[in-house]
Amino acid sequence: MAFAARIATACGRQLARGWKFWLRAGQTLALSGLVLFGGTVAAAESLPLPDNPLEGRLLFESRGCDGCHGLTGDKLGIGPSLGEQHFSGTFLDLGAALWNHVPGMSVTFEVTGLAWPQLTKEEAMDLIAFLYFIDYLGRPGVAADGETVFVSQGCSSCHSIGGGEANVGPDLAELRNFASPLFIAQQIWNHGPSMLEGMRRMGIAPPSFAEGDLADLSAFVRQQAGPGPRERTLLAPGNPNLGGELFVSKGCSRCHGTDGHGGSGGPDLRLPNLQKPAEAIASTMWNHALGMRSTMQEKGIGWPEFRESELADLVAFLYFLPFEDPVGDPQQGASVFRDRSCDHCHRADLPTQDGAGSAGPELSGTAATASESSMVAAMWNHAPIMKKAILGEGRPWPELTGQNLRDLRAFLSSQSGR
Ligand code: HEC
Ligand code: HEC
Ligand code: HEC
Ligand code: HEC
Repeated sequence: MAFAARIATACGRQLARGWKFWLRAGQTLALSGLVLFGGTVAAAESLPLPDNPLEGRLLFESRGCDGCHGLTGDKLGIGPSLGEQHFSGTFLDLGAALWNHVPGMSVTFEVTGLAWPQLTKEEAMDLIAFLYFIDYLGRPGVAADGETVFVSQGCSSCHSIGGGEANVGPDLAELRNFASPLFIAQQIWNHGPSMLEGMRRMGIAPPSFAEGDLADLSAFVRQQAGPGPRERTLLAPGNPNLGGELFVSKGCSRCHGTDGHGGSGGPDLRLPNLQKPAEAIASTMWNHALGMRSTMQEKGIGWPEFRESELADLVAFLYFLPFEDPVGDPQQGASVFRDRSCDHCHRADLPTQDGAGSAGPELSGTAATASESSMVAAMWNHAPIMKKAILGEGRPWPELTGQNLRDLRAFLSSQSGR
């Protein structure tokens, strides 16, 4: 409940409409006792994702990032507005972006006298996952465009909204309290086989959604339905860790791989890059429903149905697939360590290093390089001191790519340490 109160505070700040929608969803869910956040399920081994990626927003505020950065286009004038940027790439790609901005950012810290914010490895993960999550929220729907979708996709042949002739399917105004884009997607998905069969009989082409269509449709349903007795939107942002379990328990993993190495019967889902707004991921699933259904029938797999926040969880899991870092190459890492002059101050048990590496601590086999998130946190926390040492020697700031960081970590964790 304390979490709900904190989110409520976060909500009070300047948020774009799309954001409000999602955060309000989280808030009302928590308040109504249906706490869908904060599950106790163990995360994927390689990359412990946050259960609720929106929670990183609280760190964004408590660590003072919001002192210089806006999130929703509000120009604070100091750092760039982060809500409008497309933070794509893996965890370490984004970690590298932060690292590369250290000199620019720290100048502002020095001028303003602010203390450099310290992060634990969990916080580094939560903060970066939050930045990565921003695109997930998508844009708010436009009701007028939703009406176009409703008619052009054939929905109006079977459904009315708030009264009308069509009555093959239920009047969609019934959904008024639950008409979030993902909830509508979930209902369509669950009724998929019977709906597709009905459409085939009536000679209507199966609907296919473009990005934004479900958000628009949801806005249209809410507008037509009018305010319900109690406005409530059953929509958690989605828990990617629960989604990972559903991916197995709902049978998706029987056909789909998620590590870039293909699948059996379906495409690998890391490759199409599903880092796009949640409603667009749900659309992608739906657009492939016919193809999946026939493969499912061939394999004797029943049509999976989703309850409560299950589709949201699954979609959050798919969204985070491109976030996971592949394993780096230790030999490349050894070259990066030399080329970026890390070896000037740090030891990593390199035979060529005698006499070098006295200014900074030993790095190999230490807690600092034990995981991706601990490495990013350690580099971030020590960045101002490193900056002083590096720039003090007249050297340029050693910019890094995500691949550099992957290789460095593979190298440093493969060394035994002294
Ligand atoms: C004292 C002001 C200040 C604070 C506080 C601050 N930043 Fe920055 N940040 C900046 C400035 C200035 C830049 C642009 C630097 C540059 O271009 O090299 C920047 C750049 C960035 C970028 C790169 C944006 C891009 O264009 O790619 C990211 C990401 C970022 N900051 C994240 C954070 C996070 C996360 C925090 C909180 C832990 C934070 N910042 C706190 C001033 C700040
Ligand atoms: C061929 C007729 C037909 C078409 C076309 C059709 N539906 Fe349906 N729809 C149905 C039927 C029948 C049901 C109820 C299915 C059931 O109960 O198994 C249903 C159920 C639903 C539900 C769940 C409603 C609830 O109260 O749970 C939603 C949401 C929905 N449809 C949305 C749509 C949208 C959006 C479109 C257009 C993209 C669409 N439908 C097109 C026949 C249709
Ligand atoms: C029986 C095998 C099978 C199962 C089970 C299955 N799929 Fe699929 N999936 C496919 C096939 C085949 C395609 C390609 C279909 C097409 O292109 O028409 C596909 C396509 C997709 C796509 C689109 C990928 C792209 O290229 O953009 C997504 C997303 C997806 N599936 C998600 C899921 C999820 C989530 C589940 C579990 C609820 C699931 N699938 C279960 C076979 C399956
Ligand atoms: C000019 C010297 C210098 C260079 C070059 C340098 N560092 Fe550092 N580094 C330091 C110092 C000094 C510390 C300890 C700072 C402190 O105690 O706060 C440190 C700390 C660290 C830590 C945290 C270690 C821990 O145990 O918490 C990591 C990780 C790190 N450096 C990585 C790197 C990498 C990777 C490079 C190359 C891209 C690099 N450093 C380049 C001086 C340097």
